[in-house]
Amino acid sequence: MASPASQPLTHDAIQALLRTKTFGRTLHLFQEVSSTNHEAMKLAQQGAPDGTVVVAEAQTAGKGRLGRRWYSPPGANLYCSVILRNQPTDDLAGWLSVLPLLSAVAVAKAVQLAAGLTPSLKWPNDILAGDRKLGGLLCESSLSGPTTTFVIVGVGLNVNSHRADFPEDIRDLATSVAEETGRPCDRAQLIAAILWELEQYAEALLTRRPDLFLGEYARLCTTLGRRVRVSLSGDRLLEGLADSIAPDGSLRVTCDPSSGGGMVEVRAGDVVHLR
Ligand code: BTN
Repeated sequence: MASPASQPLTHDAIQALLRTKTFGRTLHLFQEVSSTNHEAMKLAQQGAPDGTVVVAEAQTAGKGRLGRRWYSPPGANLYCSVILRNQPTDDLAGWLSVLPLLSAVAVAKAVQLAAGLTPSLKWPNDILAGDRKLGGLLCESSLSGPTTTFVIVGVGLNVNSHRADFPEDIRDLATSVAEETGRPCDRAQLIAAILWELEQYAEALLTRRPDLFLGEYARLCTTLGRRVRVSLSGDRLLEGLADSIAPDGSLRVTCDPSSGGGMVEVRAGDVVHLR
């Protein structure tokens, strides 16, 4: 019989492993969708409850950050989106800016729990093994007036893909859990672990000040203390030393004189770790 690691995902296999209160209790599993974030957004607009999860075996138009595509071949990896409806009554902005960073901490801890691999993080929410990308998060929210009605946390993880099968443009930059550990990983266990960790953090983030979690993020974030090149909107580039995380989750960079010197707080941008 095939090992659980190479078996197709099933609704029953995932739900049998859940330890959560709400996350994943409503679960939509698809063979193929354009994007699990897109499906989750549609379901949320139709009133799907907090903690509803969309998982797919493949995505035809998986979305990455900054308008990029996310490599989403069938049957090997993890594409998963969670609908979050519970939001704090105060400091909504702080919650929204820290949630993507905290979700990355949750996913890194889940990978450690389910696969015995300890990833690091690249600001804001890339999941790394060494210098290669293992996964990433795309958080999207629906705003109506001054309140956010829901947030979609989308998680993409390369789990059992072989490096040789990655498209050429990412082959030297990406890796998978199986490539790193040398053994296939049971995706149902990984999903259950991610949902458990995400639920723990989402609950805690409702009752504690968002910035209190940033120490935990900083311990996993290997961007800090490194020289970085940051691409900002409008084709602007800056280089400098990644110094710390600001209370709103921004990356503080001490700029090189050639980039104007001084300290800049980067709220959104693409970071490259320099040697
Ligand atoms: C990144 O660029 O690092 C973020 C990648 C996020 C990919 C995941 S896969 C599941 C969910 N659905 C999407 O279309 N994107 C996210």
